[in-house]
Amino acid sequence: MISVSKTWCEFSEHPLGLATARPRLSWDLVVAASGEAASSYQILVASDMALLDRDIGDLWDSGKNPMPRGPLIEYDGKQLRSRQQAWWKVRVWDTDGNPGPYSEFDHFELALLEEDDWAADWLGYLGSSVTGALYLRRPFSLDLPVMKARLYVTGTGFYDVRINGDRVGRQFLEPAPTDNSKRVLYSTFDVSEMLKPGENVLVGILGHGWSGAQKLLAQLEIHLSDGTALRICSDNAVGSSGWTAYKGPIVEDSIYDGETYDSRLEDPSWERSGGDSSETPMQRLGNAMVVDAPGGVLEARSLEAVEVVETRAVLDISQPAPGVYVVDTGQNLAGWLRLLADGPAGREITLRYAESLYGDGRVNQENLRSARATDRLILNGNGPRVWQPTFTYHGFRYVQVEGYPGELGIDAVTVSVVRTAIRTRGQFSCDSEQINALSRAVFWTEASNLCGVPTDCPQRNERMGWLNDMAARTEELVYSFDTTNFLPKWMKDIEDTQDREGAISDTAPYRYGSRPADPVSVCYGLIPWLMITHHGDFRTAERHYDGICRWYHYLSGRAIRWVVSYSHYGDWAPPIGESAIGSIGSSALPSRTPGPLVSTGHFYLLATLLSRIAHALGRESDSLRFATDAQSIRHAFNAAFYDSELMCYGTGNQACNALALYFDMVPDEHVGSTVAALVGDIEAHDKHLTTGNLCTKYVLEALVDHGHADLALELVRQNTYPSWGYMLERGATTIWERWEEATGDGMNSHNHPMYASVGAWFYRRLAGIQVPDDSIGMSRVVFQPELALDLGSASASLLTVRGPLRCAWQRTTSGTIVVSLDVPVGTASELRLPPDMSIVSAIGHASSERFDLDASVFSERPVALSGGCGYRFEVRGPRVASH
Ligand code: BGC
Repeated sequence: MISVSKTWCEFSEHPLGLATARPRLSWDLVVAASGEAASSYQILVASDMALLDRDIGDLWDSGKNPMPRGPLIEYDGKQLRSRQQAWWKVRVWDTDGNPGPYSEFDHFELALLEEDDWAADWLGYLGSSVTGALYLRRPFSLDLPVMKARLYVTGTGFYDVRINGDRVGRQFLEPAPTDNSKRVLYSTFDVSEMLKPGENVLVGILGHGWSGAQKLLAQLEIHLSDGTALRICSDNAVGSSGWTAYKGPIVEDSIYDGETYDSRLEDPSWERSGGDSSETPMQRLGNAMVVDAPGGVLEARSLEAVEVVETRAVLDISQPAPGVYVVDTGQNLAGWLRLLADGPAGREITLRYAESLYGDGRVNQENLRSARATDRLILNGNGPRVWQPTFTYHGFRYVQVEGYPGELGIDAVTVSVVRTAIRTRGQFSCDSEQINALSRAVFWTEASNLCGVPTDCPQRNERMGWLNDMAARTEELVYSFDTTNFLPKWMKDIEDTQDREGAISDTAPYRYGSRPADPVSVCYGLIPWLMITHHGDFRTAERHYDGICRWYHYLSGRAIRWVVSYSHYGDWAPPIGESAIGSIGSSALPSRTPGPLVSTGHFYLLATLLSRIAHALGRESDSLRFATDAQSIRHAFNAAFYDSELMCYGTGNQACNALALYFDMVPDEHVGSTVAALVGDIEAHDKHLTTGNLCTKYVLEALVDHGHADLALELVRQNTYPSWGYMLERGATTIWERWEEATGDGMNSHNHPMYASVGAWFYRRLAGIQVPDDSIGMSRVVFQPELALDLGSASASLLTVRGPLRCAWQRTTSGTIVVSLDVPVGTASELRLPPDMSIVSAIGHASSERFDLDASVFSERPVALSGGCGYRFEVRGPRVASH
């Protein structure tokens, strides 16, 4: 018996405001017994729940179809329109032809897909410039109760909307950053319950955000109980039922500098009907006016919104001087402090955010460069109030609070953890407390750097989506978080940077860095590839295929005989002994890793990825051409960078050799000497890394590939400089940008994800969950944990597009290792063991069955496993007991 345990639409749960008329549906399955698998499916999609209840799919009845290899089924029924609501269910047949029951009903709703669905105009204020937030107010009245209402809304820089004094949605810092001249993301909210018969008020508050321009676009569509439909839009309406602009309590707002809130100007009643009386402290500016649109297409937001994902108590509060409090959250993170305060009108409380402290216990903000990272709250004397900023966020562990009336107690502050609210996908742990601490730091570093784009850091005057860092970081991010909607959005940001020559830029959206981007910006090809293998998403690859090819051709045009020589950063920020400047400053160019070697290596990787992507998309001749190009690049790379005297690559340092090995560019006859050079250099540095943001990942992977997993583990566990352990011993709770400990002015963020790339190594090598190149959305998984390592246990789980997956292993007191696996239905997997280990016993279980497996069957390697089951293997071998 096979049944559906969960359904998804566009990787989301019951999405409201879908950006596509061809949503992709997927589901998790459970089987009762081993060997059962899904053979066919049937999907019914109906415009009405009652129809679905009678098994009628008036919008789409897929009929009985064979299961494809990928996990996603694209809606293929009647043309769906803007605002369409649909209910759906699915059932699945097993391989014996028995149908399972229908799933529970699920539903989705489309956003506004056509330009002419929009009646609203962009609204702003054309008078004197507004330093703080711009407040726009629109009263309106309704004759009857509301049956259904949707608000389609966006703004630039950031917006916040209220209806009758209540905040709409849970989002903050929206919309996610995009190049507004190309694309602006809007959100859809169900506000049916927020409206009432009689007078209502819609308020839009606009911060400066990324663009600086304060503009609102809002379209409120209301259906009354008698069936009448009406719309309240941002438009030129003036007068008693028009839009009016105000200044209010947010008197300064800046992403980098922080927010100043003057409660004396606040008036909660202003947000409700009748609240615009002459008594209000809100300052009336005049009529709001239609302003120029930002220029980009309006696109429904498909990535998750930024939200407060967690509220935490703080660890400690110290008082380095009278009246100066320093809050220690215990964790470097992104977000803000929520403060409870009560004091006289006009009293100003300042909150200065920082990652580190001076010796005297005060906050050190030097490494934030020009970001002031300071919030200010001015009290109004009306009693206790809880406050948090709206249009800024900070990367911090410490907050220095001054001006607080009375004693600042631990109950007066809580921490709001803020990020794009994507689900965590992976969990990893092992029996080494040091590695677990590092894994937690990886998690917090990533979690701090998901703010509409994968940012480089959350604290200083930067917070950009750097493509070079993502070359190393993407795989770890894909294991750790559910990026199914997040990364495709960022791919469009990259697309938006592409110029006529095909060049993309170093950051996306483009704000900083160079154009053309550094040739290491291979994440443009890597993300679509991982979207296929991990999530079964071909759409991202299809959409961006031409763009990636154009970037590839741009690089080809810059290549001379297949060698790309230009390089901006290369293997950026290695230990200072390996960097050109030799001290912590604002540059961190490597001195011993030739830029052309790194650029050409990544050019090769891009050709390889394009060959695989083309193959996956059925473009076989392209695939062949890229594979042939890749061979030419490989050849040229060897001719240019293999040093026959050193018998390895480039200058012979770790970066050069690891890159060549990890990208599989080394001819067989040179593999031995190159591995020996890599290992020799690590030994010569007393088992320390000398690599920068990219090649650090490549060293760890190459070592395992070539039989030196133990050395890789020693690097991971190293605790003298330069190493992750060194960071942890100095109190790091997130990963630093530099291997050095630095707190001064310049480039030394303490929360920088590029060296968090090690997280993927935990999943792939310690726990052993590997996704092979021929996988389509986890259709295949290889379990290959490094069981011979000097560890007692390791375990990882992943929420995959087919359901939960897990690989865990543990040494027993009897000298064996128990390997436990959970495999989703539809995932063909195999367990690969070190050659000198054998299976002594094997049992399996499906949801209602426990079964013994004949261990001798597994003498043939690798061990093939059927999906939908859990397994427990006991393994014995000469190196097992050595721990
Ligand atoms: C960013 C880095 C990036 C580098 C490249 C820095 O400012 O924070 O993450 O790799 O610039 O120059």
